Formats: sequence, structure tokens, C-alpha cells
Amino acid sequence: KKKRRLMVAGNWKMNKSPNEARMFAGFLASSIGNENAVDVVVFPTSLSVAGVADILKDTSIKFGVQNIYPADSGAFTGEISASMLSDLAVEYVLVGHSERRHIFGETCELTGEKIKSVLKHGLTPIFCVGETLEEREAGRMKEVLETQIRKGFSGLGKSDLERIIIAYEPVWAIGTGVVASPEQADEAMKFIRDLIASLYGVDLSESVRILYGGSIKPENFESLISMENIDGGLVGGASLQESFVQLVAIAE
Ligand code: G3P
Repeated sequence: KKKRRLMVAGNWKMNKSPNEARMFAGFLASSIGNENAVDVVVFPTSLSVAGVADILKDTSIKFGVQNIYPADSGAFTGEISASMLSDLAVEYVLVGHSERRHIFGETCELTGEKIKSVLKHGLTPIFCVGETLEEREAGRMKEVLETQIRKGFSGLGKSDLERIIIAYEPVWAIGTGVVASPEQADEAMKFIRDLIASLYGVDLSESVRILYGGSIKPENFESLISMENIDGGLVGGASLQESFVQLVAIAE
């Protein structure tokens, strides 16, 4: 029995049109029971989130957005704010996903601003960290994770951390089919937990939920979540299909 409540989160990335997203949300609503022993969350595109919200409103499946810009409103062409999400009962926001960092050049400082904005509006950030293959091979994994966490959480106190979920997504495992071994993932996640202990205390490090992400599939999920430091998964490719329902069943 795990100490912390498990979460199975599906990051749909730039997939599914608004109609497709509504249909898939309907499929999930009819396939996933309402009394879940785990938290189930989906992240459609911002374009689809209103439609998905409508479908999921009376279910136990929660939803979030993949990105926000850290201002409430204003001249930020193309962006959406955390303050706009309350109309739609959105609860979660991904922050610092490696695709945001590496494709869109998001800095650690910007991820920190985003976390603050998400918290200010009463939403839960899922803060993603992870090293590239090059960084891992150069023996810099821990240093990279520590920098991402220290900068992302700069200025935050204990009461903020109580409301944050962390996702460890090694960049080399994302969309590559190369899943981290349960031991590799657990080692990195233990490092993160120990860092949280040194920054915010042991109690918080024991209660903070840390998800693994990177090539999760029904075949490898059970061995990952059986590890001590792994509190669930942030799933990309396998969250777009029926396999997501299987992943939820495995976690239950
Ligand atoms: O945020 C989820 C993610 O980056 C993992 O993607 O496709 O490897 O499961 P995937």
C-alpha cells in the first residue's frame, strides 16, 4: 500500500481536435468508474479544454491545461492565463514540461513565475523536471534536477509546496519508447525527495507526490509504481487511447 495517493495523468500534448477531444473524454467518462482510488487527470489542448470540461463535469476525472502565461490578462498574443481557468473548473496546470523548455526555450525563471501564477489562482501545478541524455551521460543528472527545482521553487514556502505535484520526466525517455528502468526512475525521484527534505523539511518530502513520465505503457507501469518514490505517472502517447483506461486500472 502506497503512502501517498497515486495519480494517473494524461498529457495529450498537441493532439486531438476539439471534437475528437470531447469524444475521447466521453469514452473515458464511460470507461473509468466514479469511485477512483487514484486521481485521474487529463490535459487536453487549451482549445479543447472547455469542451472536455463540459463532458467531465459530473465525473471523477479531473482536467487541466498544458501551459499558462504568468500574467492575469493583457497584451500577450497567443497566451492564456491561470485566472481565465476558474470559469471552466480547471484544477491542474502543467509547468516546465521538457517540450516547453527545449522547443520553446522556457527558462527556469519563467517556470518559477508560472508556478506562482498557478498557485495564486488556486490551481495545482504539476511541475516537470528532467535531464537530457547528454546531461545524464555527462554525470550531471542531479545537478540539472537541483537547478530546475531550486529555480522553479524560488520564493516559495512550505504552504506553497503542499499544493505542488512534481513530475520527473527524463527527456531521453519522452516519446522514445525507451522507458527509464524502475530503479533509474526511483533513484532520480529519491534524489528529488531528499532535496525537498533539505529545502522544506522531511514531512513535506514525505507527502509531496512525484510522478514519473516517459514512455509509460500498460506493460511497464506496474513495475514503476511499485517503487517507493513513484506516486503515479504523467503519460503522453499512451494517454491518447484506450491504454489510458488500462493504466488507471493498473494503478487502482
Ligand atoms: O508529459 C508526458 C510525457 O512527456 C511523456 O510522453 O509519450 O513518452 O509517454 P510519452
